[in-house]
Amino acid sequence: APQWLIVPAAGRGTRMRAACPKQYLLLDDAAVLACTLMRLHDAFPKATLLLCLDAEDQWFHASMVPFARWQRLEGGDERVDSVRAGIDWLADHAHVDDWVLVHDVARPCVTVADLHHLMAAIAHDPVGGLLAAPVTDTLKRQDRDQRIDMTVPRQGLWRALTPQGFRYGVLRDAFRAALEARFLMTDEASGVEQLGHAPLLVTGRSDNLKITHPEDLALAAQILSAQRTSLHL
Ligand code: CTP
Ligand code: MG
Repeated sequence: APQWLIVPAAGRGTRMRAACPKQYLLLDDAAVLACTLMRLHDAFPKATLLLCLDAEDQWFHASMVPFARWQRLEGGDERVDSVRAGIDWLADHAHVDDWVLVHDVARPCVTVADLHHLMAAIAHDPVGGLLAAPVTDTLKRQDRDQRIDMTVPRQGLWRALTPQGFRYGVLRDAFRAALEARFLMTDEASGVEQLGHAPLLVTGRSDNLKITHPEDLALAAQILSAQRTSLHL
C-alpha cells in the first residue's frame, strides 16, 4: 500500500459551468470529493491523505474526509502547482522510497480493484507507473480548416488516467527538474519521463472517467451504479 495519497482538489471546474467547483456537486447524495476519497480510503485506509484545496474554498467540510490521518494544503494556479504543494510538504515527512499516489478528485469512479492492481504492478519497481487505458477510437489529426489531415495510428497509444504512483524521491526530482527547465507537467508521468525514466503503463478500467463537462455528472452516477451491481459493492 502507498504511504501517501496526494489529491489535487483546487480546480475551479470552469468547463463544468456549475455554481460551485465540480468536486462539490452531488453524486449519489454525497459530494464528488467525498465519493472519490471513499474509494481511496476503501483501498488504502492506513495511508496519509494530502488534500490540496483552493485557499478560498467555501464548500469543503472536514466530514468529507474518511481518513484518520490527513492534511489540508493550499493548492495553486494549475494542477501541477497544487500537486507541488503536496510534494513540498513531503520533504519533511517522506522517505525517498515511499510510494506516493496522486489522484484527481474529479475521478470518483476509480475502483478499489484498479487501485490495488496499480500498487501490485509497481510494487517492486524503482520508479512507478500509472493507470492507463488503451485508445479505442480512431484518431484524426486536423489540418488548419478542421478537415482531416491524416489518421493517426492508435497502435500503442494510451489514455493516461490517475492514480499515478511513484517513489517519493522520483517525484521530488521530477518536480525540481520541471521547475528549473520551466517544463509544464500535465501529469506526474510526464515529469518523470523528462528525467529519462519509463513509467509503467498499468491497464485500468476505461470507466475511470474524469468529470469534466456537464453531461459527465450523470454518466459518473451511472458508472458508480453499474459498478455496484457488477462488482457487488
Ligand atoms: N486541480 C487542482 N488545482 C488547479 C487545477 C486543477 O488541484 N489549479 C485539480 C482539479 O481539482 C482536478 C484535477 O486537478 O481534480 C484535474 O483538473 P481538471 O479536470 O482540469 O479540473 P478543473 O481545473 O477544476 O476544471 P477546468 O479545467 O474545467 O476548470
Ligand atoms: Mg483544469
